[in-house]
Amino acid sequence: MSKARFITFEGVDGAGKSTGLEWFANALRERGVDLLVTREPGGTPLGEKLRELVLHESMHAETEAMLMFASRREHVEQVIRPALQRGTWVISDRFSDASFAYQGGGRGVPVAKLEQLEQWTHGDLQPDLTLLFDIPIEVARERLSNNASLDKFEREKGEFFDKVRQAYLARVARTPQRYAVIRAEKSLNEVQQQLADILAEL
Ligand code: TMP
Repeated sequence: MSKARFITFEGVDGAGKSTGLEWFANALRERGVDLLVTREPGGTPLGEKLRELVLHESMHAETEAMLMFASRREHVEQVIRPALQRGTWVISDRFSDASFAYQGGGRGVPVAKLEQLEQWTHGDLQPDLTLLFDIPIEVARERLSNNASLDKFEREKGEFFDKVRQAYLARVARTPQRYAVIRAEKSLNEVQQQLADILAEL
């Protein structure tokens, strides 16, 4: 395995992304890959403080978008870029696709504004691969209903998540070569098989 890769995991809340990420990261480590796992919003001390704010305080949709990118700016400079430069692979649990899906699709922030923030924040850096955990919203909602403490986003209505899901799929349609779409409503074993197939291609 040569150049360090930057891989992101995406999907609506309740899609099983975090479980899939853990499996995938372990599988890469078993293959001897030097790997850093991180997350957004968060990934740095400042980013984690911003995460607390955006997940629990109500605010204007564009404030929310800017805070997501502020957290990301810090994350790219302090964590992601240095790791890739020293040859460490990076897996991030969410990245800019989440801002296009949640703030863009879910909250209606114009895509052109998000593209400006993206250009500003990481114009020269994009994930090599994004795994999108796609799932019918009813199934994701059902999975979330077992969770006792829901954050601001997880408490949104099904309609919001429908828009988030459609925005993710629209991103895939625009640049399909960057994405692998996981059919996340399948059983754990079947999801792991899909992940194993992706791993084999890396
Ligand atoms: P998580 O539950 O996967 O850790 O993500 C936290 C929440 O933050 C999730 O509901 C999606 C949301 N989010 C955005 O709305 N925009 C973003 O840019 C990111 C990174 C996350």
